[in-house]
Amino acid sequence: MSRRQALCMGGTSGIGLGIALELARAGFDVVVVGRNPARGAEAVRRLELAAGGAEDSSFAFARSDLSVVKNVKATCEAFMKQHARLDVLVMTQGRGSMMRWTDNGEGTHANIAVNYLGRVAAAFLLAPLLRASSDPRVLTVLAAGMHKPYVHAADDFAVREHFSFANQADAACSYTDVAFDRFATRFPKISTAHLYPGVVRTNWMIELPLSVRCLAWTLCGACLWTCVKSGDDVGVEFARALLLDEKSGGGGYRYVF
Ligand SMILES: NC(=O)c1ccc[n+]([C@@H]2O[C@H](COP(=O)([O-])OP(=O)(O)OC[C@H]3O[C@@H](n4cnc5c(N)ncnc54)[C@H](OP(=O)(O)O)[C@@H]3O)[C@@H](O)[C@H]2O)c1
Repeated sequence: MSRRQALCMGGTSGIGLGIALELARAGFDVVVVGRNPARGAEAVRRLELAAGGAEDSSFAFARSDLSVVKNVKATCEAFMKQHARLDVLVMTQGRGSMMRWTDNGEGTHANIAVNYLGRVAAAFLLAPLLRASSDPRVLTVLAAGMHKPYVHAADDFAVREHFSFANQADAACSYTDVAFDRFATRFPKISTAHLYPGVVRTNWMIELPLSVRCLAWTLCGACLWTCVKSGDDVGVEFARALLLDEKSGGGGYRYVF
């Protein structure tokens, strides 16, 4: 049987990289996607080490800004050209951000696109490839169940009229909750999980303004921060949950929490 295939969008850092490493240890080939080529190259180096030089293993970095849906589409199409099957799709792309209205060039706020629209687009575009697997699995990590619904969703879906940091976060996160619940219903053969990781020591804060980071550090305290689990540790836990009951054939799990 050929090696199992994984695509990790957001796999160049933090929780996504932790998951990708555990998948490499479990015998998967992995493609990680992100914007930063230096992080991508380092991720590939670590994946090769994690696989321990396994014969025929393959690890690659694909550069893409996944806050633009046409880039998400191009990334999925490139993957589909090179692979006949996808066993595991992981989506952890996105970081903490307090950006004002920032159009992604397609009429959508960049945060909403990276956290919601791009993930849903990728899952649906790759569904045929996932269905070619005997036990396909999808994991998305954001803030499952943590945000209230965006109250103006019916008449301001894109959060243009009522833009605020809180509203765009509520919209992106609650839309993603609903979308992956629907995805799981639409594709019952594809085990689907959407998770909230809690506070994890990663690069998640690096794009926040310095003042916000300083405030977080002061409130949290450097000592407490070092006690928080790392992206590698959480990645191992999430990857093991992702592969649960793999040997029994799995299929059809649905966790949205
Ligand atoms: N860490 C926490 O405490 C925490 C708490 C709640 C929720 N979360 C959620 O958990 C998920 C994973 O976060 P993390 O903590 O692992 O953060 P992280 O270490 O910053 O990793 C984020 C990953 O997403 C990629 N990424 C970010 N923006 C992107 C874009 N526009 N296009 C393509 N790739 C992009 C980054 O790659 P490049 O740098 O190469 O672009 C990186 O690989 C995120 O959805 C985050 O919101 C995290």
